[in-house]
Amino acid sequence: MDPSCEPSSLPFAFLLSIENMGSTLCLFMFMRFLLLVSSFYPMVANSSSFMQQPLCHDSERSALLQFKQSFLIDGHASGDPSAYPKVAMWKSHGEGEEGSDCCSWDGVECDRETGHVIGLHLASSCLYGSINSNSTLFSLVHLRRLDLSDNDFNYSQIPFGVGQLSRLRSLDLSSDRFAGQIPSELLALSKLVFLNLSANPMLQLQKPGLRYLVQNLTHLKELHLRQVNISSTIPHELANLSSLRTLFLRECGLHGEFPMNIFQLPSLQFLSVRIPQCLANLSKSLFILDLGSNNLDGPIPQTCTVPNNLRVIDLGENQFQGQIPRSFANCMMLEHLVLGNNQIDDIFPFWLGALPQLQVLILRSNRFHGAIGSWHSNFRFPKLRIVDLSDNKFIGDLPSEYFQNWDAMKLTDIANDLRYMQARPKFQIPGYGWTAHYMYSMTMTNRGMQRFYEKIPDVFIAIDFSGNNFKGQIPTSIGNLNGFHLLNLGSNNLTGHIPSSLGDLTQLESLDLSQNQLSGEIPLQLTRITFLAFFNVSHNHLTGPIPQGNQFTTFPNASFDGNLGLCGSPLSRACGSSEASPPTSSSSKQGSTSEFDWKFVLMGYGSGLVIGVSIGYYLTSWKHEWFVKTFGKRQRKWTRKERRHIG
Ligand SMILES: *[C@@H]1O[C@H](CO)[C@@H](O)[C@H](O)[C@H]1NC(C)=O
Ligand SMILES: *[C@@H]1O[C@H](CO)[C@@H](O)[C@H](O)[C@H]1NC(C)=O
Ligand SMILES: *[C@@H]1O[C@H](CO)[C@@H](O)[C@H](O)[C@H]1NC(C)=O
Ligand SMILES: *[C@@H]1O[C@H](CO)[C@@H](O)[C@H](O)[C@H]1NC(C)=O
Ligand SMILES: *[C@@H]1O[C@H](CO)[C@@H](O)[C@H](O)[C@H]1NC(C)=O
Ligand SMILES: *[C@@H]1O[C@H](CO)[C@@H](O)[C@H](O)[C@H]1NC(C)=O
Ligand SMILES: *[C@@H]1O[C@H](CO)[C@@H](O)[C@H](O)[C@H]1NC(C)=O
Ligand SMILES: *[C@@H]1O[C@H](CO)[C@@H](O)[C@H](O)[C@H]1NC(C)=O
Ligand SMILES: *[C@@H]1O[C@H](CO)[C@@H](O)[C@H](O)[C@H]1NC(C)=O
Ligand SMILES: *[C@@H]1O[C@H](CO)[C@@H](O)[C@H](O)[C@H]1NC(C)=O
Ligand SMILES: *[C@@H]1O[C@H](CO)[C@@H](O)[C@H](O)[C@H]1NC(C)=O
Repeated sequence: MDPSCEPSSLPFAFLLSIENMGSTLCLFMFMRFLLLVSSFYPMVANSSSFMQQPLCHDSERSALLQFKQSFLIDGHASGDPSAYPKVAMWKSHGEGEEGSDCCSWDGVECDRETGHVIGLHLASSCLYGSINSNSTLFSLVHLRRLDLSDNDFNYSQIPFGVGQLSRLRSLDLSSDRFAGQIPSELLALSKLVFLNLSANPMLQLQKPGLRYLVQNLTHLKELHLRQVNISSTIPHELANLSSLRTLFLRECGLHGEFPMNIFQLPSLQFLSVRIPQCLANLSKSLFILDLGSNNLDGPIPQTCTVPNNLRVIDLGENQFQGQIPRSFANCMMLEHLVLGNNQIDDIFPFWLGALPQLQVLILRSNRFHGAIGSWHSNFRFPKLRIVDLSDNKFIGDLPSEYFQNWDAMKLTDIANDLRYMQARPKFQIPGYGWTAHYMYSMTMTNRGMQRFYEKIPDVFIAIDFSGNNFKGQIPTSIGNLNGFHLLNLGSNNLTGHIPSSLGDLTQLESLDLSQNQLSGEIPLQLTRITFLAFFNVSHNHLTGPIPQGNQFTTFPNASFDGNLGLCGSPLSRACGSSEASPPTSSSSKQGSTSEFDWKFVLMGYGSGLVIGVSIGYYLTSWKHEWFVKTFGKRQRKWTRKERRHIG
């Protein structure tokens, strides 16, 4: 066994995330983060400003001033509200005057003994321009920490002069709008333990390439290359970085087959390397396996082959083929399983119903087929709240037994404080504790649009079975699942009436029954759903008057398209004399509405708008945060694939 795998050297926790948008891949490992943080992040407590220390060296002061002068200071350039021009107060004064000691300047850190500038912390400093290779920055050869993140280098190149800063241990050039190839001189910074080049989407790493980067920078403990254009396969040399604790390769254009053996006992290929061997046993502490949004193909990696703590498996948006490995049945802590947008060819994985913690199951856009089958008490999906089976080849009846038994989808008290699904692995070293956050995310169709949820409220309840070939009637038992926010049964082959029990889904915001063979009238009970913001029954065989009142006054006529028998507002076709009056109780023949419910309906009918508006307002403000925050940000990063789905 490799010595570095000895228990004493095992990281406290470990988190792996590989993600990509477009043609990317990402890998994010999180190990012994605390040690890392404490070992090389500058300590604020000993900030140079109140320490007695020698004045800075003249040559370094003038180097800093020239460095400052090579930029435009653009306070508007950064969207970051905490940004401010730290260099603005750097001034050259006469000898001995206040402010002439560059060691006291904002963002400058000097060595207490020698007075040499050893740290430059200029994150979010409104710097705009480019850095020449003969910039005076590179004469600050004592620098150990350089943070220029969140500035705007105008799509210029990282200057090769950076190679002169051979003492650098920490380099942060993230979110800087650098472009072009990373200079191979960077490889000379062999002491680097921290490197963050993330969020520079125009920055390329084809030359020298990730392989050489990891071969030369062997001391790296943290490597952040999210949204850097690497465009290669995952080099096996990655495994040589024996000190590596955090590896972030999301959205990097990595491709090819994922070296699955990372999660297994070593195979021949990996026999001589270190990390994979460790990982096989480290996976006990793996919390997150996030390989989403890449171009990974081949079979899904066997996971959970050893006792484990996995909470999240996200393999969505890849080209994985074959079946869901049955080893997933051992992922007893699994809460969040995302396999959407792959080429998985399997039947409904009913056996996942044995997982006691599973809350989210996304199987969208694969080749799942066959009937859902009957419910079995050994596979009860006790906590399932969000299930997306859309765009597959499922057939048969809707699983009414499941609808009766998915208890977690029944209405619970609305929590006062909105919480999000997340993993919170704890890290512990003697005398110090720390908790990390990893927000779960997913893509789902809501209100007719495919949306990326960067966070998932832990009260969100949703079913999307659209785009399959389900037939038969919508079971009335679906009214049991009265916690629903989203119900999408569109584009199937459903027949019969819309059950009036759908009116029991009082939390519903989005109801899509379009493109089926549904007939009969739209039950008046649906007007009870005061939060309903999206309703689509287009392209069915519905007849009779459209219910009026409450949210129904807000739906466009496109919601009712393609139903030749429907009449009344918002359609231009008026109802005949027999149906002229607003629908009354006689229009809701089916369903088993209780007396109490019915009174509520009538009451709602009179004062519904007020109820609707006030509750709706509450809900809007309550949800505003989640909808706006979650969709706004990621929208610009939609891949081509995603855009196609959106429209
Ligand atoms: C701060 O400086 C003092 C004196 O140099 C040293 O003893 C102490 O360990 C330092 N603290 C930190 C957090 O670096
Ligand atoms: C930014 O780049 C543009 C185009 O290359 C160039 O015209 C402009 O002068 C640059 N601005 C600065 C401040 O370097
Ligand atoms: C080096 O600096 C001089 C001015 O000092 C400038 O003219 C020249 O373009 C710079 N060279 C490079 C490679 O940036
Ligand atoms: C690396 O840079 C990215 C992008 O600016 C930032 O989100 C991330 O927090 C940085 N990582 C660390 C550890 O500083
Ligand atoms: C990278 O490492 C190799 C050997 O480990 C060395 O020969 C080469 O000079 C290094 N590259 C740079 C740019 O320092
Ligand atoms: C990455 O770089 C390659 C080579 O320059 C280029 O063809 C490709 O379009 C880039 N990818 C992205 C996502 O920018
Ligand atoms: C890195 O790993 C490869 C095998 O993947 C091995 O051949 C090579 O010697 C290793 N390099 C170093 C510097 O350990
Ligand atoms: C993993 O752990 C098992 C038992 O704990 C041990 O037999 C095996 O050698 C370990 N594998 C590696 C690669 O360390
Ligand atoms: C829908 O079901 C009917 C019979 O119920 C069948 O004739 C028809 O082919 C089905 N449509 C599709 C698209 O499968
Ligand atoms: C309703 O669904 C149909 C078919 O699925 C779709 O074409 C239409 O755009 C949807 N209407 C609205 C208002 O979203
Ligand atoms: C839908 O509404 C538009 C204008 O609001 C109207 O012109 C159109 O005739 C309506 N379509 C139907 C089918 O009622």
